Amino acid sequence: MARTILIVSGKGGVGKTTTAINLASALHSMGKEVLLVDSSISTPDVGIHLGAPVIPVSFHHVLAGRARAKDAVYMHSSGLKVLPGSISLQEMKRAKPEGMKRVIDSLRRSSDFIIIDSTAGFGKETLHAIESASEMIIITNPELPSVTNALKAVKIAESMGKAVTGVIVTRKSGDKSEMLLDDIEEMLETRILGVVPEDSKVKEAAAAKDILVRSHSRSKAARAYKELAAKLLGREYRGYKEEIGRRGKGFFSRLLGKLRIKK
Ligand SMILES: Nc1ncnc2c1ncn2[C@@H]1O[C@H](COP(=O)(O)OP(=O)(O)OP(=O)(O)O)[C@@H](O)[C@H]1O
Ligand SMILES: [Mg+2]
Repeated sequence: MARTILIVSGKGGVGKTTTAINLASALHSMGKEVLLVDSSISTPDVGIHLGAPVIPVSFHHVLAGRARAKDAVYMHSSGLKVLPGSISLQEMKRAKPEGMKRVIDSLRRSSDFIIIDSTAGFGKETLHAIESASEMIIITNPELPSVTNALKAVKIAESMGKAVTGVIVTRKSGDKSEMLLDDIEEMLETRILGVVPEDSKVKEAAAAKDILVRSHSRSKAARAYKELAAKLLGREYRGYKEEIGRRGKGFFSRLLGKLRIKK
């Protein structure tokens, strides 16, 4: 049965999707069976990040009762399995977030990890995503507004009886104005799992629709994500030689059907 880990933040734009994609990919490259799910109903962006913004069957179709979960799971060309959302407004209106837990539970048998990306804020869709996961990783930047929203996520997790595996501080540049890691840890009363530095390679990979840990695998941010993945596996990262899989770029193929979607 898969560990289902929700990537959540409260504040938008802090690096949730970047983290979800790269952690999922790093775990996959370490030999794990991984499914990446985009749980955002209103602003799904995993497909956009991976270069496949429009797909015929999505999580939205499944949540609207118009498709089976396994028919909305695609294989990214790196070998990572992805359940993306639809960017269509009509599909957004049709999807019923109440069904999220049931759908995600139905997919737990076929993977070691289900990494779930979420939307900003704590609206209905995020609460259903929290309900669907067995644990949460909270993303924050080293700034007070971001940490304040992360604290909200910690409190919601407590009130819903969900385990918080830890906090990831992303986009740390070392600027004097940033909050100190000790202060973040103290404010959130939660351990910091890892720190991802501000790294121009993240934007380079995103612009090319590449997955950073594959395309820029020796960058500082990629290394941080690989160390985090190893930590989730309960061990040290032993270097890039242990990684398997293809670099992968540009399209999904339907896992169970014959369809291949090019960019
Ligand atoms: N370590 C990093 N270094 C530099 N840029 C980064 C880093 N992490 C994320 N970014 C950039 O920050 C922006 C926001 O990242 P991302 O889309 O992952 O955030 P998000 O929390 O998913 O946003 P949203 O709440 O809108 O879904 C992107 O332009 C991304 O490339
Ligand atoms: Mg996002």
